[in-house]
Parts: sequence; C-alpha cells; structure tokens
Amino acid sequence: MSAKRVVLGVSGGIAAFKAAAIASRLVQANHHVSVVMSESALRFIGPATFTALCGQAPVLDAFDSRYPLGPHIELASNCDLLLIAPATARLLASCSLGLADDLLATLYLNVECPVVFAPAMSTPMWEKAAVQRHISQLRSDGCHFVGPASGWLSCRRQGLGRMEEPDAILSACREWLI
Ligand SMILES: Cc1cc2nc3c(=O)[nH]c(=O)nc-3n(C[C@H](O)[C@H](O)[C@H](O)COP(=O)(O)O)c2cc1C
Repeated sequence: MSAKRVVLGVSGGIAAFKAAAIASRLVQANHHVSVVMSESALRFIGPATFTALCGQAPVLDAFDSRYPLGPHIELASNCDLLLIAPATARLLASCSLGLADDLLATLYLNVECPVVFAPAMSTPMWEKAAVQRHISQLRSDGCHFVGPASGWLSCRRQGLGRMEEPDAILSACREWLI
C-alpha cells in the first residue's frame, strides 16, 4: 500500500466526532491527511484533535497563510482522494449546485481526484426531496457515496441517516488508497 494524500473534509453534524477515528486510521495506514473543517464542524469537535492525530493543524480558513495560493488550490493540486465525512445536507447542496460558498465547497470544485461523501443527517432530512435531488446530481457528476446507515440517531430515534462507521467508510475508499 503506497502513501496517498487524502483531504478529509469535516462538516457540521454530530457524527463529526467519528471523523477523528477516520483520520487516525488513515494516518496509521501511512497516508498523509489534511483535514478541512467547516465553521459548524468546530461546534462539534475541536481542531486540536485533528492537529494531534494528523501532525498538522486542520484548515479552517479559506485564507490560511500556510497556503499562499489558497488551500482550495494547493490542497486540490496533489490530492488522491477527497473524503467528506460527515457530509451535511448543506454541504451536499452547496457541492451539487457548485456554489463555492465556503472552503470545502470551493475545494470540491477544484479537485480532480475521486470524491467520496459520507452523509449524516436525520431521517426526515435524508428523505427530503431536495436532499435526494442533490445526491442524485452528485452521483451523476461522478461522486461516490458511503451510507448513510440505519440505526440510532442523535435525535433519539431509529432510522436512516446515521453516518456509516469509520471502518465501512475506509473500506469503501480502499480502491483509491492502495
Ligand atoms: C446539534 C446539531 C446537530 C446537527 N446535525 C446535523 C447533521 O447530522 N446533519 C446535517 O446535515 N446537519 C446537521 N445540523 C445542522 C448543521 O449543523 C447546519 O446545517 C450547518 O449550517 C451545517 O454547516 P456546514 O455544512 O458548513 O458544516 C445539526 C445542527 C445541530 C445544532
């Protein structure tokens, strides 16, 4: 298995804490992991977790001075896989519409590598026609999806919308990580 450059996008849902396990497993497999967090993701998990796990601070700002050309350009230019986990309804809509209205959605438009989304949201959100339209559009645009799974949701009910477990997500990505 050769080392790959993975950008792990983390958007703002409860499942964001599981992104730490994904980052850790990728690093343990010798991959180089850059984490990009949405502003809302910061409400669910602290950047220090990813700094420690990945050995570099996550990118939080489209104007991060570590990337003079902009992280949306520099992270995209040598990226083997863009994995967005969890992917919120908002981010999926933004990517589907090509809005480029935040760093993750702008990065999405710049990457030329495979893109994998692991959606996570409540069952009513997942089943909403608008969300399904965006998923269909992204699928036909060539994006890949893992999950969501059924099970316990943070809104205290069982149903479809739970983010897939980290191992299942990584297993779905294995063809791009070898
Ligand atoms: C407690 C809480 C949990 C949330 N969980 C989710 C979620 O699982 N999926 C989702 O799509 N939105 C969820 N949201 C709403 C998003 O945080 C909100 O749409 C936000 O604007 C998403 O921003 P982002 O896509 O830039 O991360 C949640 C909000 C709160 C307050």
